[in-house]
Amino acid sequence: MKIAPSILAADLADLASAVKHCEDGGAQLIHVDVMDGHFVPNLTFGPPVIADLAKRSRVGFDIHLMVSNPEALIDRYLDSEPVWVSFHHEATPEPAHLAARIRDRGVGAGVAINPGTAVDELLPYLEHLDFAVLMSVQPGFAGQAFQAEVLEKARELRATIKARGLSTSIEMDGGIKPGNLHEVAAAGVDVAVVGSGVFAAERPVEALTALRRQANE
Ligand code: DX5
Ligand code: ZN
Repeated sequence: MKIAPSILAADLADLASAVKHCEDGGAQLIHVDVMDGHFVPNLTFGPPVIADLAKRSRVGFDIHLMVSNPEALIDRYLDSEPVWVSFHHEATPEPAHLAARIRDRGVGAGVAINPGTAVDELLPYLEHLDFAVLMSVQPGFAGQAFQAEVLEKARELRATIKARGLSTSIEMDGGIKPGNLHEVAAAGVDVAVVGSGVFAAERPVEALTALRRQANE
């Protein structure tokens, strides 16, 4: 399992250092949480901030759009050439269409579902996705408690992906710490997003290195 550190939990006045910490800790993907103050109550990074940050990073970005009407914003976020972009199932009437637009730009497309949304909602268009994001907290803030019920959704989705012969990756996002990392990996998750588990630590580089090691055990 891979670890994608979320810079939402870093010192937001020093994002360049956060990216450096991710690089030094061996991150293979950097998770960037975009919030619009509408789909979620919080407000974070606009396209120019991410574009400038991407120029400083040797590690690719995994942009998580927690925004209403993602189709209106997607192109500007794709301009920073991320590796992956996800948007929320709950935020758009035509997820398959939007995923196709992302893939047309050569970027991996993902759809995120809130803890209260069933995995079944993703199944009609699963083959159009490179990854699915299972939220293990209510989106909006870093530092919330892990909702362990979501592990069952990962097992269910992993079984469906296997049964259909797909290569869709599963990402889990929210509240992941050293104490629940094994359970997350065992449920069939490919990428674990970790915010405060890295950046609230006294030494983020060491925390990330330890998590990566633990994830591969
Ligand atoms: C929550 C975000 C998460 C969050 C993870 O809305 O999507 O990516 O930053 O942070 P922790 O690991 O602290 O829950
Ligand atoms: Zn996220």
